[in-house]
Amino acid sequence: MLHYAIDYNELEKEFKKKVVIEGVPIMVALLADKVYAIQDKCTHLGGSLSKGTIENSDVKCRLHGAKFDLKTGNVIDKAHVGFIKMPTKKATTFRTEIVDGKVFVEL
Ligand code: FES
Repeated sequence: MLHYAIDYNELEKEFKKKVVIEGVPIMVALLADKVYAIQDKCTHLGGSLSKGTIENSDVKCRLHGAKFDLKTGNVIDKAHVGFIKMPTKKATTFRTEIVDGKVFVEL
């Protein structure tokens, strides 16, 4: 089911934003005119991915550096402290749709 997330104009200004839909924290991000949605909670220890940085098409958690592909949720780089890598699971992504200037996320 599609749920309203944010106005496209607002996302254009900020590029990434945390929204909560049906109690689920989700980061929506604008990348090369496409909108992506990924769980906002890092699969390592729950850091907010919307507070992280976007590099190419990946989002990097600011806490321990886990990196996820925004399109698939695949782990690009595991969480780590120094050189010690820690188990990091794939993140959940969501389909998005833009209708009349509004971004919708499918849950
Ligand atoms: S909580 Fe995100 S890398 Fe540790």
